Amino acid sequence: MNVVEQDKIPQITLSSGEKIPCIGMGTFGSDRVTPEQVSKAVLGAIKCGYRLFDCAAIYGNEHLIGAVFEQAVNEGIIKREELFITSKVWNNMHGRGDVLLSCAKSLKDLRLDYIDLYFIHWPFPNYHPPGCDGDTRNPDSRPYNHEKFMATWREMEKLVDEGLVRHIGTSNVTIPKLKLILRDARIKPAVNEMELHPCFQQGELFQFCLDHDIQPIGYSPIGSPNRPERDRTPDDLADTAQPVVVEIAEKHGIHPALVCLKWAVQRGQIPIPFTTTKKNYLANLKCITEDPLTPSEMEAMKSVERNCRLIKGQVFLWEGADSWLDLWDVDGTITT
Ligand SMILES: NC(=O)c1ccc[n+]([C@@H]2O[C@H](COP(=O)([O-])OP(=O)(O)OC[C@H]3O[C@@H](n4cnc5c(N)ncnc54)[C@H](OP(=O)(O)O)[C@@H]3O)[C@@H](O)[C@H]2O)c1
Repeated sequence: MNVVEQDKIPQITLSSGEKIPCIGMGTFGSDRVTPEQVSKAVLGAIKCGYRLFDCAAIYGNEHLIGAVFEQAVNEGIIKREELFITSKVWNNMHGRGDVLLSCAKSLKDLRLDYIDLYFIHWPFPNYHPPGCDGDTRNPDSRPYNHEKFMATWREMEKLVDEGLVRHIGTSNVTIPKLKLILRDARIKPAVNEMELHPCFQQGELFQFCLDHDIQPIGYSPIGSPNRPERDRTPDDLADTAQPVVVEIAEKHGIHPALVCLKWAVQRGQIPIPFTTTKKNYLANLKCITEDPLTPSEMEAMKSVERNCRLIKGQVFLWEGADSWLDLWDVDGTITT
């Protein structure tokens, strides 16, 4: 198997001083890819040179991925400290005591003594069953409540104090929410995981994170081309079909997906592309070590922005909410 040498993969220094690779691998198989296929790909990816894996309890595969981490360490392919593993507490585990329980379960499943970066997956404690239809609403769902969020964050801070996690992060938050979190957190988020791809560049939130020493991780970096039907709307755009992306890809003789990843890394976000196809995960890692986009291509990529959010989160809406836009504080204030 081809291997990308570690010294060719740039690292980013977090506010803690610790380093994180500039690209990782997603592990959300959704309806299309089984946990077995994902864990097999994780092993293949470790062998290729990946060190950062974006995991989550709700992905339903941490127990198999953990077996792979253990195998890779036992076989001497990798040392634990070379890996950078994330996990996330799901929406139904925000309560007092539940965060510790959730973290303990992920630690056990992932077969780790500590998690490098632990997220609150969504800023709402709004549960929906995995794979449910886009129109499903839970009558118990509520809008963002900062006091409740901070109670959950305090539990996250305790995990850092106890050495169970090294960093904590936010995911799917907005600038108004982050402002309050930064005001009230004892341990500030080291990272914010957010949807980022050429048609959805989130310029303001991205810059806000950089200005506050919060490293952005970009999910769906290729525009999640194989997401399920329930996560699609007629207005959604395909990043890999955008003329500017296609033209740059042709110039470099690469797949448009790789243009999205080069752009992401050169912009300063950490993309976490998902694939279980060996050819693709190797290409995704290798592409960030060679033949970068030129400054004028990086400039041209700015024009691909279309404010096209793909993961709208509508299943987390509460009764009385107008639309999925309510989750994203689009007028600059928190929707309550
Ligand atoms: N924090 C959150 O709330 C959140 C939300 C969504 C996602 N995430 C994370 O982000 C990760 C990635 O997001 P995503 O899966 O939605 O989207 P994505 O990475 O943008 O797209 C994944 C799709 O791209 C295709 N692909 C990958 N590499 C390719 C290549 N080199 N050439 C052509 N096609 C390629 C894959 O197809 P093949 O499998 O056929 O290669 C796969 O179906 C997830 O796995 C998860 O870890 C987090």
